[in-house]
Amino acid sequence: MKILLASSELFPFSKTGGLADMVAALARALAQAGHEARVVTPLYRGMLKKFPQIKREDWEFNLPLGPHWIRGGLWSLEPERGLKIYFVEQPEFFDRAGIYHEQNVSYADNDARYIFFSKCVVHLARWLPWHADVVHVHDWQVALVPAMLQQLEREGWGNAPRSCLTIHNLAYQGVFPGESFQLTNLASDFFNPNAAEYFGLVNCLKAGIALADVITTVSPRYAREITTEEYGCGLDGLLRRRMDKLVGVLNGVDYAEWNTTKNPHLFQPYSVTRLAEKKINKLELQRLVALPVDEHIPLYGTISRLAEQKGVDIQLAALEEMLNSNIQFVQLGSGSPEFERGYRELAARFPDKVAVRFGYDESLAHRIEAGCDFFLMPSRFEPCGLNQMYSLRYGTIPIVRATGGLDDSVVDFTESAKTANGIKFFEYSARALSKGIRKSMAIYTNANLLKTYRQNGMKADFSWAKTVGKFVEIYKSTQLS
Ligand code: ADP
Ligand code: GLC
Repeated sequence: MKILLASSELFPFSKTGGLADMVAALARALAQAGHEARVVTPLYRGMLKKFPQIKREDWEFNLPLGPHWIRGGLWSLEPERGLKIYFVEQPEFFDRAGIYHEQNVSYADNDARYIFFSKCVVHLARWLPWHADVVHVHDWQVALVPAMLQQLEREGWGNAPRSCLTIHNLAYQGVFPGESFQLTNLASDFFNPNAAEYFGLVNCLKAGIALADVITTVSPRYAREITTEEYGCGLDGLLRRRMDKLVGVLNGVDYAEWNTTKNPHLFQPYSVTRLAEKKINKLELQRLVALPVDEHIPLYGTISRLAEQKGVDIQLAALEEMLNSNIQFVQLGSGSPEFERGYRELAARFPDKVAVRFGYDESLAHRIEAGCDFFLMPSRFEPCGLNQMYSLRYGTIPIVRATGGLDDSVVDFTESAKTANGIKFFEYSARALSKGIRKSMAIYTNANLLKTYRQNGMKADFSWAKTVGKFVEIYKSTQLS
């Protein structure tokens, strides 16, 4: 099949979270399964310098954005057979220091930036000499694309592609003042409660949920959760109405990037049969982050955006209590200044037990995954979560709250004593997380049990080769409508 994917982030060109990993890996998996995948993404600052193999296309956009006309350029790259990436160049919108924000303040024109980008996606779908069967859009930034495709159909486009929307996180909907609607140049009836309107505001994700031919989200449990008031972020009613078109597919992992045997970031390769070498990564990580180098002290890690979603509040409170035991903790992340302060204070109080690093560091992320004994993910909600799956492959035992994709990907002892590979807790509280950490300390003292958990985790297989067929089925289902 021919699939045109669109995303505001794409690894390794741009990334703030799992979205970038997921879209890159899915596109690659589609190509490797013999399909033609093309991805559209913005050309952000510094990309041409870092990836000089990106070449200019003979193509120019000149598209209406409300009353104005905006020009843009197109660049491309073909990293492997069956896969082509298009980069939309619009320096005023995308040549900036951040992707969505600077110093934690969102860009005031994110509506214009991503409405313009969505228009470029639709324009490519319409005019490329390569006709996609499906346009697969990801998250709110491109969720107006199904509406824009429908508008073109109304105007007479006979064989418009079908649309698929993947929700990576329902908490981010792209909500803007009602006046922003004019930037879309869509017919006015798209601004109604059955499409883009949410109580007088523009809601990009809502338009996608209402109008896409099929909707997916990134784990089966999250697909169920978002139809409830508790997790529905105000859109649960609409999601319940569209339940027959909503499918949960657990994200896969790109093991070519996330593996322990051929990985330039690791201090020492290791594998399920050469597990002892994992220890070198632990000792080197302790040295790197200036913690006491001691293989016997259990080392806990976290890598995450410092956002409410990630359970930072209960994690800080649980660590406060648990750090009185003989454990170490390393964290990498960036986000809310308040949470950063919380971690800084923790590190100041436990200087020889806690190491914190702020900012974005791909290499350190791999080293933490490899060097830690346990990985903490106490999320309040988690659509899928990739780090727990990376942890499993790295033989690092995840301690997770049983929500969304965390529940779907980790096996607790109570579910299967034989295949247990992690620790789950249910209640959203520091107390429940502390209990989980205590369990992990018990596992740590039992060498055989520890090894079994690690091996079970390393053997779990979340490869995209296994998952990609589900997307192909979903794409095919749209061709019948
Ligand atoms: P989310 O997309 O909600 O942030 P995921 O678990 O799906 O959560 O994906 C997070 C991805 O971003 C992982 O690949 C993780 O390693 C990476 N990541 C998050 N914060 C950082 C950071 N500060 N430095 C490097 N990588 C990070
Ligand atoms: C979102 C979610 C995360 C998911 C990622 C990739 O950022 O927060 O749970 O893993 O998208 O789908």
